[in-house]
Amino acid sequence: MKFLGRLVPGRGEGSYYMSLPPYKQKFKEILGFEPYEGTLNIKLNETINLDKLNPLEVGDFYYNNKKFYGLKVIPVTIINKEGHTIDGAIVAPKKTCHSSNILEIIAPIKLRKFLSLSNGDIVKIVTK
Ligand code: CDP
Repeated sequence: MKFLGRLVPGRGEGSYYMSLPPYKQKFKEILGFEPYEGTLNIKLNETINLDKLNPLEVGDFYYNNKKFYGLKVIPVTIINKEGHTIDGAIVAPKKTCHSSNILEIIAPIKLRKFLSLSNGDIVKIVTK
């Protein structure tokens, strides 16, 4: 599947979650990389139901006595308008089953830098 969207700013929460050691370790296990600490938010013109993309799952866990809910993880390739590509993944809370038009993307590196992206730029996301 292919999705076209535009880069939008988020609420600054992605970097907090991606900095938690249990998430880092689980992403390393299932994706083979430790994510850059943040999520890149891509706004689509359509809403998509991630459950139709056969997501991998990270289970719930406790960290510092706090419960963290699991995630859906979908490996993808991220492509900028010049055609440069980097492998990463869509992540979404496991709890939500409603369709969304915002994709949160993780990758081993800072995508804004390595794909020369600014807010509003078109980004293509291709599932593997
Ligand atoms: O503020 P926001 O929620 O958009 O961002 P964040 O999740 O705290 O991530 C920090 C910054 O890094 C944001 O500008 C993201 O768009 C960006 N980012 C990136 O360029 N590449 C990634 N792999 C992850 C985040």
